[in-house]
Amino acid sequence: MTVLEAASPPAHAGDSTYIPLAGMVRRVTKLTALEQLFEIRLPNGRPLGHSPGQFVQVSIMGVGECPISIASSPTRPDSFDLCVRRVGEVTGFIHRLRPGDTVGIRGPLGHGFDVDELHGRDVLIVAGGLGLAPARSVIQYILDERPRFGQFHLLYGAREPAELLFRDDLTRWRQSPDVNFHLTVDRADEQWRGHTGVVTTLFHRLPRLDPDNTMVAIIGPPIMFKFVVLEVLARRIPQKNVFCSLERRMKCGVGKCGHCQANNVYVCTEGPVFRYGQLKALREALE
Ligand SMILES: Cc1cc2nc3c(=O)[nH]c(=O)nc-3n(C[C@H](O)[C@H](O)[C@H](O)COP(=O)(O)OP(=O)(O)OC[C@H]3O[C@@H](n4cnc5c(N)ncnc54)[C@H](O)[C@@H]3O)c2cc1C
Ligand code: FES
Repeated sequence: MTVLEAASPPAHAGDSTYIPLAGMVRRVTKLTALEQLFEIRLPNGRPLGHSPGQFVQVSIMGVGECPISIASSPTRPDSFDLCVRRVGEVTGFIHRLRPGDTVGIRGPLGHGFDVDELHGRDVLIVAGGLGLAPARSVIQYILDERPRFGQFHLLYGAREPAELLFRDDLTRWRQSPDVNFHLTVDRADEQWRGHTGVVTTLFHRLPRLDPDNTMVAIIGPPIMFKFVVLEVLARRIPQKNVFCSLERRMKCGVGKCGHCQANNVYVCTEGPVFRYGQLKALREALE
């Protein structure tokens, strides 16, 4: 799709694409010093209707709006989760929200993972840092629909133990027979007893992957993507089976302003999830 084509409203355009709905904060959970998890409920418990990998625009009246990935699965439709890192003005105001407060929600926006394509296949998810937030939506989806998938492998890396997100989930996944889960940190502290090293150092813990039947999702910073994709391709997994979720500066989120443009595509409408083959043509996005 060209930039001009992308400027028309996305296929899923509906009222909440352009006009925010009032989302009610149900629960706030502190995950780390910088990240909080917000459980949000739309009016009348209306489902958000997203696919894993999509995002919403979260707005605070009089302050602004920012894109945040949906961190829970559509199989849990009563509410949805957003994991927000406090980095600036809008995210700072979001962090002050408490249960019962309302926040503007536009979306779901963007192009997520085509979960139908994953059905019946083995799945490997490699997540780094805050990438575990959008990855959690796919992970929950697979675990909720477990019989529809083959083997499920999950690798997650954070810079240090204090930055590990979703600790309750990590414990559950480690104990679950439904997922082959491995975890690492780049830098250990005195208490850390687990694996140390970047996320690619976990690849030797995977069993032999069936190249034609394995689908791979890579969700993390561009630098991680570059090295993970080398490991994946070295295992002869076809490029068409590899997907990546790309973060890019965004404003409108609906293909109107051009802030997210990489080469000739708008990441907000064609992404943030891309097939590896598409990404190779998007050099700017990986720099
Ligand atoms: C598709 C998508 C999904 C995202 N999902 C999440 C998520 O699940 N959780 C989350 O916490 N954040 C997520 N982000 C990043 C989030 O949108 C930004 O952190 C937010 O817009 C910052 O707004 P602010 O007003 O608080 O900060 P500002 O005051 O605008 O900026 C503060 C600092 O953050 C940097 N910054 C601003 N925007 C971005 C950005 N898009 N990427 C990286 N750095 C930025 C600025 O350079 C500055 O250093 C996502 C971004 C995109 C595009
Ligand atoms: S065109 Fe993508 S954020 Fe506006």
